[in-house]
Amino acid sequence: MKFYVGSDHAGFAVKGQVIEMLKTKGHDVVDLGPENGNRVDYPDYAEKVSHAVISDEGSYGILICGTGIGMSIAANKIDGIRAAHCNDYYTAQMARAHNDANILCFGERVSGPGVIESMIEAFTTTEFEGGRHVGRVEKIMALQKSH
Ligand code: RB5
Repeated sequence: MKFYVGSDHAGFAVKGQVIEMLKTKGHDVVDLGPENGNRVDYPDYAEKVSHAVISDEGSYGILICGTGIGMSIAANKIDGIRAAHCNDYYTAQMARAHNDANILCFGERVSGPGVIESMIEAFTTTEFEGGRHVGRVEKIMALQKSH
């Protein structure tokens, strides 16, 4: 899978580990910053990663901030993005299976490295189930366009 990864300063320390995890599993990874742990605004990186995911069909994103909340709120403002704020294996698995999420968000101040690795495992190995979930996801995307 192809991944675009971004963080703010509160997710910077774990961003490098996430990139290594993805590469070790054989994924293609683009680091969209930041390049250091200086204070930045998370919406700027949510926007960068979201635009990259939309422009590169079939790609996915990972956004990390302190909690994962700000990144997910910001990314979900962008048409075409389904950013899932996850906390464990199950939520990351369901984000793909039921919501067809294209961006995984989590918080460095919330989740430890073991849980983060399990979320990445779930997100990268779970396919969208389709079926009854297709119409629901289409309704989500229609909301983005109509409001
Ligand atoms: C930064 O202090 C923090 O607010 C940010 O990383 C994130 O948790 C926002 O949702």
